[in-house]
Amino acid sequence: QGDVFTYDPGFTSTAACESTITFIDGEKGELLHRGYPIDQLAAKSHYLEVCYLLLYGELPTAEQLENFEFTITHHTMLHEQMQYFFRGFRRDAHPMAVMVGVVGAMAAFYHDSTDISDPHQREIASHRLIAKMPTIAAWAYKYSIGQPFVYPRNDLTYAENFLHMCFAVPAAEYKVDPILSRAMDRIFTLHADHEQNASTSTVRLASSSGANPFACIAAGIACLWGPAHGGANQACLEMLKEIGTPDRIPEYIARAKDKEDPFRLMGFGHRVYKNFDPRATVMKQSADEVLDLLGVENNPILATAKELEKQALEDPYFHDKKLFPNVDFYSGIILEAMGFPTSMFTPIFALSRTVGWVSQWKEQLADPTMKIGRPRQLYTGAPFRDYVEVEDR
Ligand code: SDX
Repeated sequence: QGDVFTYDPGFTSTAACESTITFIDGEKGELLHRGYPIDQLAAKSHYLEVCYLLLYGELPTAEQLENFEFTITHHTMLHEQMQYFFRGFRRDAHPMAVMVGVVGAMAAFYHDSTDISDPHQREIASHRLIAKMPTIAAWAYKYSIGQPFVYPRNDLTYAENFLHMCFAVPAAEYKVDPILSRAMDRIFTLHADHEQNASTSTVRLASSSGANPFACIAAGIACLWGPAHGGANQACLEMLKEIGTPDRIPEYIARAKDKEDPFRLMGFGHRVYKNFDPRATVMKQSADEVLDLLGVENNPILATAKELEKQALEDPYFHDKKLFPNVDFYSGIILEAMGFPTSMFTPIFALSRTVGWVSQWKEQLADPTMKIGRPRQLYTGAPFRDYVEVEDR
């Protein structure tokens, strides 16, 4: 408090922006949200409280939290006509394709929160995006498996609602397991925001042109889809399944080190962390806890993941290049144990990251000096030359 805490990572000239929301110290493996460390938030807080912290800068009082949770809970329904967007996709469409399309289309339904010059509309758009993303992700899943959409309920928490919309069916009572909802909420929290990662930078760049909030968030979802970014959790579990048993790990570590081989260890390495990703540490603890509680403590994939991590961290290549497990290394194992198909891993990441995108979108718009993002380039192409007629070429 008091002193303005500024952290110059030494490359201010290339810093994308100033921000007060999330701080990462890659060397120490530290992640703070408005100053609070992620391990404490994961252990003591819950996702909607972290949403409030990211959006408004301070932990809420009991009354502020109650009002915020009421607002979010009562905005979880989608305009009924939006169902037709889902039904326009093939059943085998990747849920990320559906999320990009449906979130972008929200601008066509929620006109009264698209004027970015109006702070009140910005507030409404923020709440709508955070509230409706679980419904959109759950309905993308239901549509892909041919089951009827399940509507959100106001008597459930944010994580309970998402699980209920994903796994309930009209034909039977579905009781949300508190162990699953606690694990789900923790996964939401661990993915909430992460400084200027590729998808957040995409949102900021889109917002700098004055695009409406739904278009900006749809752009962030599209960027997150990439396997080097948010798609890594799906790619990581698929990699662990391809490895199968621990005896095959050396073969894959050798491939990851081979410059001629494009294969990389999914869930390993990070642009910023040159130490453990603190989220991976919490996720690993959750994996043990959730799998034990789900009675799959002898999960062979988890055993392979732990052995892969051990062997990679003992290998000079990974050690010297400071490559450690990142947030995606263990998350897929938990999500699969909870009953999600791999195609839903990145949509869950997108759902979780919506509050980070929205918080940074609001921060960008609140900056009176906001200029359109217009990166320059280093031109290395042909010098000036005159046109040559085709008969002279
Ligand atoms: C996320 O930015 C964020 O904050 C993103 C994220 C978030 O919350 O938003 O944290 C979420 O995207 C996490 C990252 C998920 N992606 C993966 O797990 C995919 C596998 N990892 C990589 O593709 C890679 O590590 C990146 C893309 C994440 C980072 O790549 P860089 O920038 O090349 O990493 P680096 O500069 O630290 O690499 C140093 C060296 C390079 O070799 P050299 O050129 O020095 O010879 O390590 C190599 C890389 O080739 N390397 C790997 C590797 N990751 C980097 N080699 C093998 N396996 C890997 N996973």
